[in-house]
Amino acid sequence: MIRVDLRSDTVSHPSPEMRKAMAEAEVGDDVYGDDPTVNRLQDLAAEKLGMEAGLFVTSGTQGNLVSMLTHCQRGDAVALGEMSHIYNAEAGGTSVLGGIAMRILPNEKSGVISAEAIRTAGAPGDYHKSPVKVLAIENTQNGAGGTAITPEQTAVMVGAANELGLKVHVDGARIFNSAVAQNIPASELARGVDSLTFCLSKGLACPIGSVVVGSRDFIEEADRWRKMLGAGMRQVGIIAAAGIVALDSMIDRLAEDHANATKLAEGLAEYPDVDIDMESVQTNIVRFAVPAGVGKPFAAAMYEEGVYMNAADSALRLVPHYGIDSEDIDFTLLAVKKAMAVATA
Ligand SMILES: Cc1ncc(COP(=O)(O)O)c(C=O)c1O
Repeated sequence: MIRVDLRSDTVSHPSPEMRKAMAEAEVGDDVYGDDPTVNRLQDLAAEKLGMEAGLFVTSGTQGNLVSMLTHCQRGDAVALGEMSHIYNAEAGGTSVLGGIAMRILPNEKSGVISAEAIRTAGAPGDYHKSPVKVLAIENTQNGAGGTAITPEQTAVMVGAANELGLKVHVDGARIFNSAVAQNIPASELARGVDSLTFCLSKGLACPIGSVVVGSRDFIEEADRWRKMLGAGMRQVGIIAAAGIVALDSMIDRLAEDHANATKLAEGLAEYPDVDIDMESVQTNIVRFAVPAGVGKPFAAAMYEEGVYMNAADSALRLVPHYGIDSEDIDFTLLAVKKAMAVATA
């Protein structure tokens, strides 16, 4: 039987407070702008990020897509990192649905895109190239191990983008993990950026939803794109209610997930067959490598021991979240001991 599911923070379940708030939510037709709970969530989200307005969307993927559609016309381009979720894991929606090209830039180990790399992205006036309109950065940077990008690093990227006349979008799926890890308000991570998407349904444990924040004009236009994508929702305060609980009471507890991730990483680092960069373990994501061919039998053996993880040949990831406590990490490390023996035998 599976006791610990560490595939992702997306597998977390809503808290009892969320379920109660959902049951009791005051609702209206959100396409008419009539849902008071959605309006409250959007306002609260904008306030937390220091932006003018917010838009409730179904997912992080949709928030990023709506943002790209709002920043770019068909034939324009977005510049973004090779590790980025938008490029690697959103089914190419930006290009397929938006006709927007992707200009891929190198990420540093930290997840940052250097100013030099950004400067290579846009050569205005060269009609051989699709004009880059926006730089998309990611915070935390999932592919780099959930690294927390700092306000200073953000300012350098924003500065380089603005020099080229580019807007900046942050895929902040886990922006509150980044803020908690750095002990700063999330609004500091949105300073100077034009739009940001964050997820309610990851570490914040909501069942559904993300919010896009930006200027009032940006959000008005993003709302039109959301409608076009078929995501104008009606009495959706039922879901937004959980988001309000999350923003009011689930942010600070992300520190527990970070502590559990560090404990897990320290335990994994004891194994000679595990290659782990402790510097990359800054939030709730633990990325590590095992010798080629060991990953899949290791994940299968972990499953037998009661720990669910995604299987891959060598590059593996474990993600503690709401519902996983320190004892579950002890249980997981015991499973690692047994599974490693089986997988490397
Ligand atoms: C960095 C990042 N951005 C965007 C997303 C997309 O979110 P969703 O799964 O809600 O579409 C994810 C999902 O894991 C993510 O890790």
